[in-house]
Amino acid sequence: MAPETPACCLEVKRVSKSFQGRRVLADVSLTVFDGEILGLIGPNGAGKTTLFNIITGLVRPDAGTILFHGEDITGWPPQRLCHAGIARAFQIPQPFPEMTALENVLISLWFGKGPRAAPQDAPQQARELLELVGLAHKEAVVSRDLNLIDQRRLEIARALATRPHLLLLDEIAAGLSPAAVKAAVELVQRLRQHGLTLFITDHYLNLTLLASDRVVAMDQGQIITSGPAREVIRHPEVASAYLGTREAAGGGEAVL
Ligand SMILES: Nc1ncnc2c1ncn2[C@@H]1O[C@H](COP(=O)(O)OP(=O)(O)OP(=O)(O)O)[C@@H](O)[C@H]1O
Ligand SMILES: [Mg+2]
Repeated sequence: MAPETPACCLEVKRVSKSFQGRRVLADVSLTVFDGEILGLIGPNGAGKTTLFNIITGLVRPDAGTILFHGEDITGWPPQRLCHAGIARAFQIPQPFPEMTALENVLISLWFGKGPRAAPQDAPQQARELLELVGLAHKEAVVSRDLNLIDQRRLEIARALATRPHLLLLDEIAAGLSPAAVKAAVELVQRLRQHGLTLFITDHYLNLTLLASDRVVAMDQGQIITSGPAREVIRHPEVASAYLGTREAAGGGEAVL
């Protein structure tokens, strides 16, 4: 019997976006399947964060549609998307700096989708999430005193506290040491084991290539190719986009 095709979690269909007349996304289509870790790669300015901003309701597309489990969510505001089950950890962590790690997660538990924990159960739930991201031993630390990897862990715990089905992670490996990147890869894979679908992006390739089941490569607002990581990085257009050897039409400027 042929293996069952997994259900579509997120479908991006022919999305385009321009800023001040300059096209930064051109007819982008991709699918994230339920239960997978999909990686999005592309050099600086390829349009990765803009696509994430469109999916999470921070930016409206000029054209195209976003479906989440078959429902058209195009243009929904972030709060509504959060309640529908889409969460995001930001490139720059945005915790409440004066609050402890535990307090930060408690606040997100309050805003999430579905039934809230009874107030007396919330601290236990928050602790379980801190445990899941490897931050349990720092629950009482004020978040501004956490180092970068721990701030990213906290950012993910806060996103998880909203009880998402789909989690988008933007550049969680940026600025991390090789050991911390390895820990981040393990964390992403652990999250999937807990039933999440993940869509991750990282302009340094390491985290995305190591953690993802499948990779989509973009350059200059367009999808170049997709497939298993080892095939995608060998694709000539992907290699040249990263190395800056692609002859850009009318200029030949370096990408990096
Ligand atoms: N709000 C905005 N107004 C104008 N231009 C924007 C805006 N947001 C993004 N851009 C431009 O769109 C292009 C794509 O940016 P985006 O941040 O999506 O790229 P990226 O692939 O995430 O890059 P990086 O790897 O550096 O994070 C860039 O040229 C950027 O300057
Ligand atoms: Mg970006």
